[in-house]
Amino acid sequence: MRKPLIAGNWKMHGSTASASELADTLGSGRHLFEGADMVVFPPAVYIQHVAEQLVKNNIAVGGQTVSEHAKGAYTGEISAGMLKDLGCSYVLVGHSERRALYVETSQSVAEKFKAAQENKLTPILCVGESLLERQQDKTFAVINSQIAAVIDLVGLEAVCNGVVAYEPVWAIGTGQVASPEQAQEVHATIRKQLGEGGSTTRLLYGGSVKSSNAAALFSQPDIDGGLVGGASLEAEEFLKIAQLTL
Ligand code: PGA
Repeated sequence: MRKPLIAGNWKMHGSTASASELADTLGSGRHLFEGADMVVFPPAVYIQHVAEQLVKNNIAVGGQTVSEHAKGAYTGEISAGMLKDLGCSYVLVGHSERRALYVETSQSVAEKFKAAQENKLTPILCVGESLLERQQDKTFAVINSQIAAVIDLVGLEAVCNGVVAYEPVWAIGTGQVASPEQAQEVHATIRKQLGEGGSTTRLLYGGSVKSSNAAALFSQPDIDGGLVGGASLEAEEFLKIAQLTL
């Protein structure tokens, strides 16, 4: 009953030419994973270009982050309305790199989530524990509080209408993927926190997903797809991963 979703986070990689080539190959491979949704997150400067190529192929495009403000004197920021205007339908909020490197707090992440929904963008709320937090047995407490901050601001139903991505920080870009059992355990806990409405919420796993480990992860009952970084930059590999969601 939950349609699989495969998301590609391109981070700060590529050029006009490489973004266009990647989009082209994904578009031509769309028929390979008709039963799933796909969204890619190019660097902001390439969003419009990529959206023009992909939206016609029924592949969505999103922003990697968004301002919590609607407009004003916020140099360098991009509003949810602007992302929408460029052709986005999704936005990542609270990616661990944003939380760690740009000091986004759970409160500001919640405000970004709200700004996204107010502009009819589907937020993908990223949550996850660091290695130290896992070692200290704080995984569930950390994730619970990251999600609770958003629920407090927008309400449970609004969070259920978004997407949640569990991305253990220790698995991002490290090649050290969570085991299917570790990921499923966290996903089940997140779904429980979302209550009844959470039965239709798509929960993605992210962190070193590749075509060699995706099948085992996606076969878990509470994993509805993936948020893929490095491997989403290689079109053929990403297409393979997309097919494994089915
Ligand atoms: P990775 O990144 O697949 O390269 O580990 C995932 C992410 O940061 O979303």
